[in-house]
Amino acid sequence: MVKTYLVFMVQVHLNFRLAELESLADLYGIKTVDFTKYDRESPFFIVELENDQQARDWISRSILTRAIYEYWGQGKSYEELHASVQHNPCFLQYKQDYRNSSFKFEFDNFGGSSGGKLDRVACIESFKYLDFQGPIRMKNPEQVFTIIEEYEPLGDNQAGEVPLRLFFGREVQRSDRLRGALEKYDLKKRPYKGTTSFEAELSLVSANIGQVKPGTVMYDPFAGTGSFLSAGGHYQAMVIGSDIDGRMIRGKGTQTIRANFKKYNDSLQFIDVLTMDFTHNALRSDFMIDTILCDPPYGIRESIKVLGAKDPERFVGKENLEINGQKAYLLRDYIPTKKPYSLDALLDDLLQFAAKRLPLDGRLAFWMPVANDENIETIIPLHSNLELKYNCVQEFNKWSRRLLVYINRGSSFNGPTNVGIERSKENFRDRYFNGFN
Ligand SMILES: C[S@@+](CC[C@H](N)C(=O)[O-])C[C@H]1O[C@@H](n2cnc3c(N)ncnc32)[C@H](O)[C@@H]1O
Repeated sequence: MVKTYLVFMVQVHLNFRLAELESLADLYGIKTVDFTKYDRESPFFIVELENDQQARDWISRSILTRAIYEYWGQGKSYEELHASVQHNPCFLQYKQDYRNSSFKFEFDNFGGSSGGKLDRVACIESFKYLDFQGPIRMKNPEQVFTIIEEYEPLGDNQAGEVPLRLFFGREVQRSDRLRGALEKYDLKKRPYKGTTSFEAELSLVSANIGQVKPGTVMYDPFAGTGSFLSAGGHYQAMVIGSDIDGRMIRGKGTQTIRANFKKYNDSLQFIDVLTMDFTHNALRSDFMIDTILCDPPYGIRESIKVLGAKDPERFVGKENLEINGQKAYLLRDYIPTKKPYSLDALLDDLLQFAAKRLPLDGRLAFWMPVANDENIETIIPLHSNLELKYNCVQEFNKWSRRLLVYINRGSSFNGPTNVGIERSKENFRDRYFNGFN
């Protein structure tokens, strides 16, 4: 038997919202949701689920929804709403189930003002046919019944006046967003951050679409100040990061990645960070990595460099240079030479690494910026063993960035590939600083 639930979503980052809902449903093995009924223009989504536990699992981690409710009814007016509730086939059962529970009523809305014009007491009174016998409790009631009014907003900051639709339901689960995840991970309050830090909302969404799982290993090869490590730790993965720039991952004084984890009470999730060139990867080949989540360098606030010599001729014969009888490259303060590298090659390396190291069905999720020119085609990197599952775009004025999410399907998959070919015709950094003209 399935039951009907109402999902109340936020109307932001719409290019990411469905991907988040689908990824979380898949993560928890929820198969009864009919995504063909999902409407991008609406904050509401009515779905069928097997039970409340499924609803809790599905929405508890979500960032782009507000909450999920057991659906009792809807209408264009209160009259219609009451008729709908009383004609719900589960009405008598629901009434019975919650007859003696402690409870309270709450109001929420989309597009209206929080105060509203509604006489709330009279509104609650109009539900007296529910005949609840339990005590009203404003703090920690067993059940919260919610009236949600949907308005058409009159403008960006102007609330609508007449509700278009009303919903009534029993709250089953508030999302991670409503439980304060955005405030908790807000960069403004983070001890260690830098110019490359990724904002809280979309880093948490990335971890959800990447299906970062509790108790598994998540790796960020370009960890910088550790924004994605924090997001992964929040969803209880064991996280490890690397970066070619030791200063970035070491931080300074009390401003360190470790201090961020401590502040978030996630210290147990943090394995460590290594100063390492991703393309000369030192992680043991049998070290299991379940998910890769990152924001590779695009040469804007940081350069794309790998170990090696720009001008190898200069080093001929000096490979084994010794200082005081010790090989120079084994000294603690040795700084290896680095050479510039192309973005295409770096992303190829990332895809190859993911295909080799992720388990079957494991996800690689990374961000890629693109210039919004009509005359330049954006070529998305593809690898024959990786299925490109999502390509979610966040638009800015003259450029955009995409979250690309791949699933490792193994060597028998044989999908399209463009590894090894030149994809980016123009240097994103030059175009960025030239205002994309
Ligand atoms: C866009 S930033 C990532 C920022 C990070 N998400 C954060 O929260 O700060 C890219 C990072 O890649 C690092 N990087 C560049 N080339 C690298 C390489 N070959 N191997 C590892 N890291 C590299 C840069 O030092 C930089 O910190």
